[in-house]
Amino acid sequence: MGSTYKDITILGIESSCDDTSASIIQNGIILSNSIANQQVHENYGGVIPEWASRAHQKNILPVVDQALKDAKIEKEQLDGIAFTKGPGLLGSLLVGSSFAKSMAMALNIPLIGVHHMKAHIMAHFIDKPQPRFPFLCLTVSGGHTQLVIVSGYNAFEVIGTTIDDAAGEAFDKVAKIIGFNYPGGPLIDQHAQFGNPDAFTFVEPSMQGFDYSFSGLKTNILYFLQKEMRKDEKFIQNNLDDLCASVQKTIINILFNKLTKSAQKHNIKEVAIAGGVSANSGIRQRLVQEGEKRGWTTYIPAFEYCTDNAAMIAMMGYFMYQDNLFETTDVTPSARLPF
Ligand code: KG4
Ligand code: ZN
Repeated sequence: MGSTYKDITILGIESSCDDTSASIIQNGIILSNSIANQQVHENYGGVIPEWASRAHQKNILPVVDQALKDAKIEKEQLDGIAFTKGPGLLGSLLVGSSFAKSMAMALNIPLIGVHHMKAHIMAHFIDKPQPRFPFLCLTVSGGHTQLVIVSGYNAFEVIGTTIDDAAGEAFDKVAKIIGFNYPGGPLIDQHAQFGNPDAFTFVEPSMQGFDYSFSGLKTNILYFLQKEMRKDEKFIQNNLDDLCASVQKTIINILFNKLTKSAQKHNIKEVAIAGGVSANSGIRQRLVQEGEKRGWTTYIPAFEYCTDNAAMIAMMGYFMYQDNLFETTDVTPSARLPF
């Protein structure tokens, strides 16, 4: 009798925003992660949805091909195809989901619709050490800011969320006011490393429970800069590093205020961060410091798995495959897919 062991090989496809990515995972191990970034949006202060869809259309086939080649996997070896079902830009999601559907139909294998924000959290299972359940994850991206209790591979409870802008949006909107190209978050991070975080003080909202709000901060900074620039039109250039450091400190304080309170309330000591904004060096440092102070075990994804990538989609797809969580071919993506 032969062995009953069979490899599980999944292709993951991510196309929710402006990056097209494909990844192969085999038995829980990432074999490849290929990404095409879109530069077309950088001078426009945000992603232009129509351009993003067109770039996905151009990129998706070569990116998937590359992922298969890098992994040394033939498409006939695939057991399932996972794609980002939402949330995200509808046009971008449609490109990925249509591609995934046709490929799954052609190969006659299951189709797996993955929630983008759950996948950001599952990035923690790509490398070791991995968080133990239940853990608390602060998930911070360009479109979302959420506190999530994760009690299993497919078990998530959102206990706090933003009522307006996401943390990444706050970084990007302030960066735009300062004069940086999109996405400005990483540039604020770079300048902040040379500035004094206590140079300027900005408002921290007082929100009930574990919810967040970031729109007031952006307005506060805008008015502050308008006032200062009436006195010194070069105020931004003359104070760039201090400004970035102060803005970054304020966003981090807002994020960690609720993170620490919710960890305490739920008595959780396994604490993680995920999503594009978790690439921020100040946030990464602060999580380590809070962890040491509070006796938490902390988890930070490798840099390349913080911002959008298909490895996290493939990882989530791998867990969903084992639970037989499949889609039918009439599935449609959703820009506002509920958690
Ligand atoms: O998760 P992600 O790649 O895409 C979404 O799902 O939205 O997150 C993108 C967000 C952008 O707002 C970007 O400015 C922010 O992550 N970001 C950063 C840093 N790297 C990416 N924000 C602050 N500091 C960074 N180093
Ligand atoms: Zn994302």
